[in-house]
Amino acid sequence: MDIERILVVGSNGLLGQKVADQLLRSANYAVTLASVEETPIHVNPSAPYHRMDITNRRQVKDTAAMVDAQVIINCAAMTNVDACETEREMAWKINVNGVEHLVEAARKNGAMIVHVSTDYVFDGKAGPYSEDDRPEPLSYYGKSKLASENIVRSSGVRHFVARTMVLYGYAEGVKANFALWLIKSLQEGQPVRVVDDQFGNPTLVDDLAFGLVRAMELGKTGLYHLAGRDIQNRFEFARTLAHVFGLDASLIHPIKTAQLKQPAPRPLKSGLLTLKAEVDLGFKPNSSEQGLNVLKTQLTRAAR
Ligand SMILES: NC(=O)c1ccc[n+]([C@@H]2O[C@H](COP(=O)([O-])OP(=O)(O)OC[C@H]3O[C@@H](n4cnc5c(N)ncnc54)[C@H](OP(=O)(O)O)[C@@H]3O)[C@@H](O)[C@H]2O)c1
Repeated sequence: MDIERILVVGSNGLLGQKVADQLLRSANYAVTLASVEETPIHVNPSAPYHRMDITNRRQVKDTAAMVDAQVIINCAAMTNVDACETEREMAWKINVNGVEHLVEAARKNGAMIVHVSTDYVFDGKAGPYSEDDRPEPLSYYGKSKLASENIVRSSGVRHFVARTMVLYGYAEGVKANFALWLIKSLQEGQPVRVVDDQFGNPTLVDDLAFGLVRAMELGKTGLYHLAGRDIQNRFEFARTLAHVFGLDASLIHPIKTAQLKQPAPRPLKSGLLTLKAEVDLGFKPNSSEQGLNVLKTQLTRAAR
């Protein structure tokens, strides 16, 4: 079998590290890592790393050409939803122009592009949503991600676009996601306020990485929803977490999204239906309880 040359973009992020991990377990791939930071977090002698800012068209073009990438997996994005609302120019530059550069490079190389989007493309009035439902983003982050989907999907480049939501998991040196923040707060005995009116399926990042790699291996193209098994509100997820980690659930207090007065509006009744991925990819996501148990094992190992 031919070895496939894969460029993982945003390889220092949560998803990027997990995708790199999965690919590096196989001898079938020559993996190159690229992210905006000077150095890789994910140090592996078999995976060269290049500093590459996706907003820099020339850097993207040169890196993709040097690697002669056959597949470009884009895990890079500006993911802070409130920062995207207030720093719109930067959000557009990274989430939209950056993706244009990657698509251009993929076209030039005859490569496939794998791209990741979000449930924030929906308004959250009538979730859970299927791939056929009409997007109506509320936030600037959601708008920028929808624009990125449209660029990839109308490019003529072979592509796989996955929408996901509420990613949780552990990887070295990543920003605290909801689950990690909650674990730390509860371990420190701090009371936390968690919204009970935002519904969706929390997604173990390892499940998403599995789905992306699987789709690539099966040669699947098009738009897919890849998310966790349980649709629940954040408060319920937080209580599941406290149960799995043996932490004090009475520290978790329910509040409403409106009380948080965040800059970016959130879809409330969201959630992603994953039937298409289950049928086409054999995608079997973890329930929240299972996924949090996986996370617990990973954190225990990392602490050793
Ligand atoms: N996290 C979620 O809950 C969630 C939900 C739905 C969808 N998604 C999507 O899932 C994907 C992966 O998210 P994630 O949680 O893994 O995000 P993440 O941990 O923030 O990783 C994104 C990576 O991209 C890098 N990056 C930012 N700007 C860049 C640039 N100009 N050039 C190259 N790299 C750049 C970031 O570096 P810095 O950290 O230095 O900025 C970071 O390492 C994204 O497309 C996101 O929109 C995430």
